[in-house]
Amino acid sequence: MALAEFREPDQPGWTRRVFFEPYRKSRNWTAALMAGAGLEVRRDPVGNLLGELPGADPQLPQIVIGSHTDTVAGGGRFDGVVGVVGAVEVVRLLSAVGRPLRHPLLVVDFLGEEPNRFGLSCLGSRAVTGQLHQDHLRLRDENDLSLGEALLQAGGSPDELECGLWRRQRLLAYLELHIEQGSRLERAGIPLGVVSAISGIHRAVITITGRPDHAGTAAMDERRDALAAAAEVVLSLERLAAEVREGASGVGTVGRLELSPGAANVVPGWARAWAELRSTDSTWLAGRHLALEASIREMAAARRVGVEVDWVSAEPPVGCAPGARLLIAEAAAELGYRQMELSSGASHDAAQLARLCPVGMIFIPSRDGRSHCPEEWSEPEQVARGVSALLAAVLRLDRADSL
Ligand code: GLV
Ligand code: MN
Ligand code: MN
Repeated sequence: MALAEFREPDQPGWTRRVFFEPYRKSRNWTAALMAGAGLEVRRDPVGNLLGELPGADPQLPQIVIGSHTDTVAGGGRFDGVVGVVGAVEVVRLLSAVGRPLRHPLLVVDFLGEEPNRFGLSCLGSRAVTGQLHQDHLRLRDENDLSLGEALLQAGGSPDELECGLWRRQRLLAYLELHIEQGSRLERAGIPLGVVSAISGIHRAVITITGRPDHAGTAAMDERRDALAAAAEVVLSLERLAAEVREGASGVGTVGRLELSPGAANVVPGWARAWAELRSTDSTWLAGRHLALEASIREMAAARRVGVEVDWVSAEPPVGCAPGARLLIAEAAAELGYRQMELSSGASHDAAQLARLCPVGMIFIPSRDGRSHCPEEWSEPEQVARGVSALLAAVLRLDRADSL
């Protein structure tokens, strides 16, 4: 709740977006929270906030726990925050019981997990895994500021990203506590979810060029209406994403639409749609990707509009490590918590980390399954169970030499 006080006053809900002032200020608060729990705090070149707790054997690989503290516009107070504040709480509990770990522990607040105005999500977790490239740094926002410049302004050192790379050999596993953001746990009356896999996401920016005309004089059969064409894109994405193929399914959304010139008496001459497809099944994703592209081209030809389909990202689905799933399930059972396995429709920093080390995720219920909205809520007891499970999982992991 304290972190939620850092919010953009002109935005709805609990908005704290990467590169905006409230986010920048909030991270000093988070750094102080980490330091207060006894962590040695530093920032890496991209702007990840890292808190280290030395292990009894400094030669052993690190256990990493954390998440993110940025939000979407109009977002809530729990997405990401539970994983960061929960990780700090694990450290506090460890020192309260006076139990040093064998392995070094690293708590992370990853920079900017949510999609931003540069069109790239998971900035911090991409950077540590070597997936934030020079061409990403050249991406520009609507004010022509580059991502590299934005990182610099935020206090990062984009020229030194390689200094922040994590080494595979130094990592034992990454565990992330997160709210479910859906309603399966609540409906089943089960307090903990063990995540089996994280959906892959294919995102496209679709630009349609028609012809602006007088809305009173252009006859219906001579129009090249870019917005009517974009409306067909929205509906064909909805139809294609609802199709189940060989038992596999997914979801699809057009979450943003722009048009020009945007006047009641002008036939829209230009439109742009931001679309995405998500699934834990890569064959479904690849098939829907191709089908969407084909249907857009067919529509554009029929309507005599120009179209550009720019697939800006294609993240594959990621499986959580079988060893991490078992570890979390055993930790939850030891605490007497009922649990179920479920996949994640939302994406997470864990999906990036999976390139480097085994990852595991713990979900807690979200009230009415709501997320990415101001109503997002989990009860304090539900959060506490998640933190207890994370602590128990860390203690189990610390006894192991590998996952
Ligand atoms: C992140 O919250 C995402 O799944 O888009
Ligand atoms: Mn989110
Ligand atoms: Mn999140």
